[in-house]
Amino acid sequence: MKIDILTLFPNMFENVFNESIIKRAIEKDKVTINIHNFRDYSKDPHNKVDDTPYGGGNGMVLTCQPIFDCVESLKNEDSKVILLTPDGKKYNQSLAYDLSKEKHLILICGHYEGFDERIRTICDIEISIGDYILTGGELASMVITDSIVRLLPGVIEENSHLNDSFNNNLLDYPTYTKPRVYKGMEVPNVLLSGDHKKIAEYRYNESLKKTQNLRPDLLEK
Ligand code: ADE
Repeated sequence: MKIDILTLFPNMFENVFNESIIKRAIEKDKVTINIHNFRDYSKDPHNKVDDTPYGGGNGMVLTCQPIFDCVESLKNEDSKVILLTPDGKKYNQSLAYDLSKEKHLILICGHYEGFDERIRTICDIEISIGDYILTGGELASMVITDSIVRLLPGVIEENSHLNDSFNNNLLDYPTYTKPRVYKGMEVPNVLLSGDHKKIAEYRYNESLKKTQNLRPDLLEK
């Protein structure tokens, strides 16, 4: 998979994609991630990328030209263009799975007061990572990239994300490791039994209980 991210703040991405699982995925050629400063595409003599809003109002608005030209230069028939915006479709694990099947994603990070409405016309999907306002789409694009890259074949053990929270609308079951007793708290006996059927049953029931307690809305789905 190839992911192109359009931003005015490329430095924000340096450490995030240079650690742990994402770093390994890049090294193993499971994903290519390119960060583009769309200011480099501005045709303004001062490389301006924003202007005041028509009709008046606060702040600056991102202009069409640099973003249109940057997307145009990257796009091919396999590309899916995504706009990060608080008024987009709410992101979740099921959307992460769908996007992980794509060949090429182009993520556009807005900033300042917003972007010219006409930028929406070159986007296939608009995504929000939650009902709150970030200073820009950069953190949202990192969240989306991280959650997609870990789903790509060969990035983490195949079985390990089959048990992720939100698969089948259930939260993950509790897990334990050594020691068997810590500060008086014991690992449930069934996990030491070696009986795989019983363990699977226990885990399913714990998932169900946890989801009922913490996220009953998931069960309604
Ligand atoms: N840009 C600002 N806030 C955002 C959000 N919640 N999700 C995606 N992009 C954003």
